[in-house]
Amino acid sequence: MNIFVYPGSFDPVTNGHLDIIDRAAKLCDKLIVAVLINRTKTPAFTIEERASFIEEVLVGRDNIEVIPFSGLLVDFMKKHNATTVVKGLRAVSDFEYEFQMALLNKKLYPSIETLFMMTNVEYSYLSSSAVRELASYGGNIKDLVPDIIIDRVYGKYKNK
Ligand code: COA
Repeated sequence: MNIFVYPGSFDPVTNGHLDIIDRAAKLCDKLIVAVLINRTKTPAFTIEERASFIEEVLVGRDNIEVIPFSGLLVDFMKKHNATTVVKGLRAVSDFEYEFQMALLNKKLYPSIETLFMMTNVEYSYLSSSAVRELASYGGNIKDLVPDIIIDRVYGKYKNK
């Protein structure tokens, strides 16, 4: 069984992430969306919120599982017998950081592979922090995040 892992902080999940999830799920037997803590960022949404947003959007998708996790990605991969990390590249500027992460993960766990997928050009400008910024000023986030989470994203910034 070929298990891929798509890791990220998903704070919150965007349509760009979902595009990668859809395409990656076709390439493996099982895709685990790993909602990880990125220690360099202070999340706006709790890990439970971030995971449940993705679960709600992906309900009924048999070969996709959403698992929250804190710690090293390689430990998560080992625990779940996963072979491959999937990462989306939006622009050349993503490459240097992702290249470093891929090599570091390979050093820690030599049998690991990292598969880079080009983000759909429609979403190449998108990031979770851009969505948060827009939502915090009441800007339009339709078409950027799944419809069923829109109200809860705005809700985070009400009364602030
Ligand atoms: N569509 C839209 N946005 C996308 C995207 C896509 N296809 N691909 C990436 N992005 C956005 C993300 O939302 C994120 O936005 P933000 O910075 O506004 O939050 C940004 O691009 C960067 O994404 P990424 O590099 O994947 O960062 P991340 O914070 O989502 O995830 C982890 C990073 C959690 C996977 C990484 O820190 C990790 O593996 N941590 C575990 C600890 C570990 O093992 N460290 C490595 C060894 S020291």
